[in-house]
Amino acid sequence: MTRLALLTSGGDAPGMNAALWALTKGARAQGWEVLGVQEGLRGLLEHDFLPLTEAVVLPWARRGGTALGTSRLEDFPTHLNAAVERLEAAGVTKLAILGGNGSALAAAALSQHLVTAFIPATIDNDVVDSDASLGFDTALNTALVLGDGIRDSAESLPRLFALETLGGSTGFLAQAVALALGADALLVPEQPLSESDIVAQLEISIATHRYALIVASEGYPDVAGVVERLSKALGTRSRFSRLGHAQRGGRPSGRDRLLARAFATMAVAGLASGESGRALWQNGRAVWRPFAEASAKPFNLTPL
Ligand code: F6P
Repeated sequence: MTRLALLTSGGDAPGMNAALWALTKGARAQGWEVLGVQEGLRGLLEHDFLPLTEAVVLPWARRGGTALGTSRLEDFPTHLNAAVERLEAAGVTKLAILGGNGSALAAAALSQHLVTAFIPATIDNDVVDSDASLGFDTALNTALVLGDGIRDSAESLPRLFALETLGGSTGFLAQAVALALGADALLVPEQPLSESDIVAQLEISIATHRYALIVASEGYPDVAGVVERLSKALGTRSRFSRLGHAQRGGRPSGRDRLLARAFATMAVAGLASGESGRALWQNGRAVWRPFAEASAKPFNLTPL
């Protein structure tokens, strides 16, 4: 009997649950048994497995977060053998891991012991070799609702506004938010700007529409301090909004649900072929690629 275990790892992302459903549906169609690992890699070492069927998982599919729970286990390599023993003891022969770059490394290590698939799932959209990851589109849309709200206020009572997004140490999410909102300045950790350049940029915006809107990634050094100094230099009051984890939850968007299905279909086909690998999004479609060495996804700055 083929027994597939599903595991969500690292920061939760909208679309994880949709992918768990699509993986369960695809695996059951192959005649496989499906088990859920509770609370990610840490839970793999500590908790019992949950038997999963489509009937159990379908109600999860429309919800944000991950119904299996998740965890961060930075020192996973030291627990690799214990994790493999737990999987073997439960008769697990195949594994699918959903998460970001750290989870991909854990999946690569586990693939040395059993057939393993990785699916990109992080609102940061920084997964190496993948143009898209689950949760990014939903987080972008959530930020747009709140950013549009800030602009309503800015047009009514003009000041300097700053909106900080999540994104970890990367600027992919902040850049998408800034481009979609039509922000006046973007602060990303990959390319810090001189404060006098930002002031010059914002002076033009204030002269044009009486207020200025900055979007910043949380990874930019001292965002709150920068906003305060810009406010002084521009001689205008400022208001700073931090989206925080409110941006990480919520119902997955249609695009994230479709992406979840495409990744899951690719992962089940890959697992069925008996070869470990990563389901990635490249040039508008899901592809199956072998695991790779650790690296970083290149960031390209797009003019606002
Ligand atoms: O999963 C990615 C992410 O949401 C980042 O955008 C953010 O910096 C980080 O996770 C927050 O992690 P935690 O939930 O552990 O505080």
